[in-house]
Amino acid sequence: MDRRQVVDLGEFGDAFREDPHPVYTRLRERGPVHRVRLQGADAGMEVWLIVGYEEARAALADPRLAKDVSRIGVTFLDEELIGKHLLATDPPRHTRLRSLVTRAFTMRRIERLRPRIQRITDDLLDEMLPHGRADLIESLAFPLPITVICELLGVPDMDRAAFRKLSTEVVAPADSQTEYDAVVGLADYLTELIEDKRCSAPTDDLLSDLIRTTAEDGDRLSVEELRGMAFLLLIAGHETTVNLIGNGVHALLTHPGQLAALRADMDLLDGAIEEMLRYEGPVEGATYRFAVEPLEIGGTAIEQGAPVIVGLTASDRDAGRYDDPHRFDIRRDTRGHLAFGHGIHFCLGAPLARLEGRTAVGTLLERAPALALDGAPGEWLPGLLMRGMRSLPVRW
Ligand code: HEM
Repeated sequence: MDRRQVVDLGEFGDAFREDPHPVYTRLRERGPVHRVRLQGADAGMEVWLIVGYEEARAALADPRLAKDVSRIGVTFLDEELIGKHLLATDPPRHTRLRSLVTRAFTMRRIERLRPRIQRITDDLLDEMLPHGRADLIESLAFPLPITVICELLGVPDMDRAAFRKLSTEVVAPADSQTEYDAVVGLADYLTELIEDKRCSAPTDDLLSDLIRTTAEDGDRLSVEELRGMAFLLLIAGHETTVNLIGNGVHALLTHPGQLAALRADMDLLDGAIEEMLRYEGPVEGATYRFAVEPLEIGGTAIEQGAPVIVGLTASDRDAGRYDDPHRFDIRRDTRGHLAFGHGIHFCLGAPLARLEGRTAVGTLLERAPALALDGAPGEWLPGLLMRGMRSLPVRW
C-alpha cells in the first residue's frame, strides 16, 4: 500500500468487515494518516483516516477539526431532519448543550441506577438461561441498554423491535437510501414522542426535565435541539453498549486462558471491561470531523473542508502505544484507550456504559459457568462507525 495513494477499502472485501485489524496494521506501518475511499452508505466518498494512536488522540482534541459542518458551508440532511446535537456542534453551542445534560450522567447519578441495572440483567438471564442456548445479542446485549436508556429518558412502551431496526440502520446502514429512510423514521418517531411528553403530565425523567427547561427558559433548548438530544442519547445510549457486551463476551470466549483467569478472580472484571474496550471497542471510527483550515496531521497535509475519520479501534492497537497490541490481556494497563473518544466530545455515557458492561458480563459469567460459543457469530456490522456482530450464538 502506497501512502500517497487512495486506499479503496472495498478492495479488501468482506474480510475487512469481519476483521479490519490486518488492514489497519498494514496502513499504520506506512504512516498514521491515509486517504481512503469508503464503502456502503458513503460509497465512493474519500476521507482522511487516522490509524496512529498519538495522531488520533491529538486530532480528537484539535479545534481545527470541527463537528459543525455549516462552518465549511455544507448541510447534512439528517441534521435538518433531526436537529443539531452534541456530536454536530462546536463550542460555544456544544458547551451549552452539554452543560444541560451533564448533570444527569455524573458517576453519582449513574451509581443510583445500579440496583435497577442489576434487576433488568437478572430478569433477562432468568428468561434466557432455561433454554440452554441463545443469541446473546438478542437475549442480553441489546435489551439491557435499550431498557436502561428508555427508562432514564422516560420513553414509554416503545416498539423496541421497530426502533432497533431503525437505530441500527442509522449507525450501520447498508446503503444511503436505507440510512435516509431510517433517519426519516426516527425523526418522525421522536417528534411524536416529544409532542406526547409535552401534552401529558410532567414526569420525573430526563426528557421531561429537558422539555421543562425549554418551557421555562424560552430560547434555551429549541425543539430541534430537544429532538437532536433525544436522538443522540437514544442511539448513543444503546447501539454502543450492545457491542461492548457482544464484542467483550466474544473476546473472552475466544481466549479461554483469559476467561479462566477472570472466572478465578472476578476482581479482574473492571480491568477486563477496559481491555474489551481497547481490544475491540464498539466505535470503530469516531464521527466525522471537518478541517476548518488547512492543517497537518502526522506529516500529511489536510486540506480545508476535508472530512476526517479518527480510527479508534485501529489506534487502540498501535504497537507504539500498547505492547503486543493484538493480544487480548485483561491484566494489561489500558489507560488512555480511545474507545470513548477524547477531548470535549468524550463520551457522556461512559460511566453508564461501564456499569452496564460490568453488570452484564459479571452476572452472565456467574450464572452460566459453562458458557461457550455455539457456532460462528453473525455478520459484522458494515461501515466504519460501529464494530459489532449482528448475533452471537452461545450455549452453557
Ligand atoms: C460502551 C459503550 C459506549 C462507547 C464505546 C461510546 C463511545 C463514544 C465515543 C467514541 C464518543 C465520541 C465520538 C466522537 O468524538 O466522534 C461518544 C460520545 C457520546 N456518547 Fe458514548 N459511548 C458508549 C455509550 C454511551 C452511552 C450509554 C451514552 C448515553 C447514555 C452515550 C452518550 C454519548 C453522547 C451524548 C456523546 C456525545 C458527547 C459530546 O459530543 O459531547 N454513550 N461515545
